[in-house]
Amino acid sequence: MMLRISVIGTGYLGATHAAGMAELGFEVLGVDNNPAKAAALSAGQVPFHEPGLPELLAGHVAGGRLRFGTSLVEAAEFADVHFLCVGTPPGVNGAADLSQLYSALEGLVPHLTRNCLIVGKSTVPVGTAEALTARIAELAPEGISVDLAWNPEFLREGHAVYDTLHPNRLVFGVTTPDAEWALRQVYATPIAAGSPVVITNMPTAELIKVSANAFLATKISFINAMAELCDLTGADVTLLADALGHDDRIGRKFLGAGLGYGGGCLPKDVRALIARATELGAGESVEFLRDIDAINLRRRERVVEETLALLGGGHRPSGRVGVLGAAFKPLSDDVRDSPALDVARRLHAAGVDVTVFDPAATVPARAVAPQLVFAATAAAALHEADVVLHLTEWREFRELDPAFLRTVARGRVLIDARNTLDPEPWLAAGWDFRAMGRLVES
Ligand code: UGA
Repeated sequence: MMLRISVIGTGYLGATHAAGMAELGFEVLGVDNNPAKAAALSAGQVPFHEPGLPELLAGHVAGGRLRFGTSLVEAAEFADVHFLCVGTPPGVNGAADLSQLYSALEGLVPHLTRNCLIVGKSTVPVGTAEALTARIAELAPEGISVDLAWNPEFLREGHAVYDTLHPNRLVFGVTTPDAEWALRQVYATPIAAGSPVVITNMPTAELIKVSANAFLATKISFINAMAELCDLTGADVTLLADALGHDDRIGRKFLGAGLGYGGGCLPKDVRALIARATELGAGESVEFLRDIDAINLRRRERVVEETLALLGGGHRPSGRVGVLGAAFKPLSDDVRDSPALDVARRLHAAGVDVTVFDPAATVPARAVAPQLVFAATAAAALHEADVVLHLTEWREFRELDPAFLRTVARGRVLIDARNTLDPEPWLAAGWDFRAMGRLVES
């Protein structure tokens, strides 16, 4: 008999996972405590931008294999495997706030009517699964056996559907053979297609997730530190990264120097790892992560300072800035800890007129930064701009017409804070093209 699956928490991770599980052939119930979200998903609507997900999700909702609701009691009766996909946002001192995990368990476990497996997918501090195991034991009804496993998720926003259906690795933190068996059933299709499986205990599984993100952040801040040196010496960070990347022990990925990392995961996970290691008495061992965070934030500061200097500096900078990009990265409308939006907000706070264009993130960006002006096109954002900032590397910004934009803007300085524009057409159109650690021959 095919296992039945519930997915608890249908935010970014949960909605994608639920649709992915339906695609793998399972009957899936997604549960969210926000009725509006559950209703939208039930109508086949995805409340965030993720290429391919609306089609996948709507198809399985229409086909009847996937449905959404708000009742954990219903989930308790329905499923054999319950995935916990609730958020673990930053709490006190950067430590993860685990309250949503506990309330999900408190709503679910007392209502279980048969033996089942609960699978944690949320990103958590190492040691959380052990604490949750104790809580489950307190909550479980007499005679019902409830197993817990940890199965971290590595999907990237913007590529979430592909990553869910073709995971580059599967990590199963388990304590029983039954849990491993159930997870192998759930992921039989990607395993058959070659996704490697790492079977381990729960603390290792928890730590794999946060260390993966901390390592990616370290790579980005490393190359950004080199970019700082490049700027001081006339060296070129993009060629430096290419040369490093040819060494396959290093690899070229995540050596994109520029404005640094943002989003709902890397910044939060680095800080949560520092907080957890400090709690464990190993703060010194992760001291370097504070530098990773500091280097990252310095990139934003650098762009703000350079822009303010161009606008007269001092206490009263004046002028208009046109900003290209608000999302934390392309192919996403996520503005959580977005470097682009952070720069735009700081310039506005310094007294500058800022107009932003983003191909997908205007609505969420406006909700968190209502003080900014949002334009409907790149050209409108650049209207009479004294300085232009390229802050999120959407593909369509590489296809802009620099000659036309020269007639729209007032000034001629463009800062490519993502190092992804081709300088040549911009220089040819008369722009003063500046980059971040990248050598641009004018
Ligand atoms: C990240 C991880 O890549 C996923 O594996 C993980 O599952 C996810 O976090 C998570 O924990 O949920 P994501 O936040 O979607 O995924 O974004 P990334 O593609 O990792 O990019 C993060 C940030 O780094 C972006 O702001 C991006 O612009 C920046 N970045 C990336 C650089 O500045 N340089 C690079 O070379 C690469």
